[in-house]
Amino acid sequence: MRRFMRPLIVGLVLLILLALPVTAVLARSYFLSPTWQPAAEQPIAFPHTRHAQVAQLDCEYCHRGVAEDGYAGMPALELCMDCHQSIQTGSAEIDTLIDYFENGDPVNWERVHQMPDHVHFVHSSHVNYGFDCAECHGDMESEIDYAEQVRDLRMGDCIDCHKEYGAPTDCSVCHY
Ligand code: HEC
Ligand code: HEC
Ligand code: HEC
Ligand code: HEC
Ligand code: HEC
Repeated sequence: MRRFMRPLIVGLVLLILLALPVTAVLARSYFLSPTWQPAAEQPIAFPHTRHAQVAQLDCEYCHRGVAEDGYAGMPALELCMDCHQSIQTGSAEIDTLIDYFENGDPVNWERVHQMPDHVHFVHSSHVNYGFDCAECHGDMESEIDYAEQVRDLRMGDCIDCHKEYGAPTDCSVCHY
């Protein structure tokens, strides 16, 4: 019996030592996250609420991928110009929009949300399940003028919601 105790204890200690880094990384992913971006200065300050209220646009009008794809996607400038060719408010933001368009420059929108590369998020699964955009992005129709991250959206948040709705929680569902 004695003979086995030593290797057993050494083995256990080794296991605990090996588990520490994994636990630390997992704990970090619950509490600290690279997905939370500070509200970035955009090349054109795009007011979401006014487009929902004055222009009566659906989110899908510009973010066309939400129901079919992982990515929501960003609208092309041509789409903006369909309206702003004629809707010119005299504001500096619209002048900037027109400059970009006439020079043929792409607008490099700053990312607001940004999952790390090893994480797999799919818009379509969530949107087709029936969640509103507001569930994760807040009320961008009447409250949040400029896009910002309002929900935690770290691993703990994803998993809590998956448990609540009986969605899968295997590591491979969300990780490549
Ligand atoms: C007329 C086009 C248009 C419409 C309609 C629109 N958006 Fe956007 N959306 C944009 C543009 C342009 C950006 C990039 C600028 C920014 O992030 O502020 C953006 C950014 C976003 C972002 C941040 C993206 C990131 O980088 O993480 C979210 C979230 C978002 N929109 C959600 C919505 C929701 C929800 C609705 C409907 C209530 C909506 N959008 C309607 C054009 C649109
Ligand atoms: C369906 C028509 C439509 C589309 C498409 C559209 N807009 Fe607008 N936009 C409007 C309307 C209407 C207003 C509100 C004007 C007002 O308040 O008098 C507006 C307002 C704005 C403003 C605020 C202007 C100000 O005076 O402060 C900006 C900036 C803007 N749009 C940028 C964009 C960008 C960038 C896109 C493309 C991603 C876009 N719009 C697409 C109709 C549209
Ligand atoms: C279950 C939560 C959830 C719901 C519901 C949701 N989103 Fe998102 N959205 C996210 C997450 C998480 C990201 C970051 C994805 C990434 O970085 O890969 C994101 C990113 C985005 C982006 C920028 C990146 C991209 O995918 O193009 C846009 C635009 C966006 N969402 C729009 C919408 C719109 C519009 C709706 C409703 C039709 C919606 N989202 C519904 C969680 C959600
Ligand atoms: C508001 C609740 C909620 C949040 C928050 C949420 N999810 Fe989900 N997710 C669901 C539900 C419910 C499903 C199952 C949809 C179905 O059964 O079609 C799902 C499905 C998925 C799927 C597809 C699974 C499959 O096999 O089709 C992936 C991938 C996913 N979620 C990743 C994420 C990630 C990553 C996050 C965090 C950034 C997240 N989810 C946040 C509720 C949520
Ligand atoms: C429902 C989606 C989801 C599931 C299931 C999931 N994760 Fe994650 N995981 C995420 C998201 C989102 C992030 C990135 C944000 C963060 O760091 O919290 C992440 C980050 C991580 C990280 C990196 C942490 C860091 O700080 O860089 C590790 C390691 C990880 N997950 C391991 C796992 C393991 C192991 C499992 C299975 C037991 C698992 N994940 C299941 C969504 C998920």
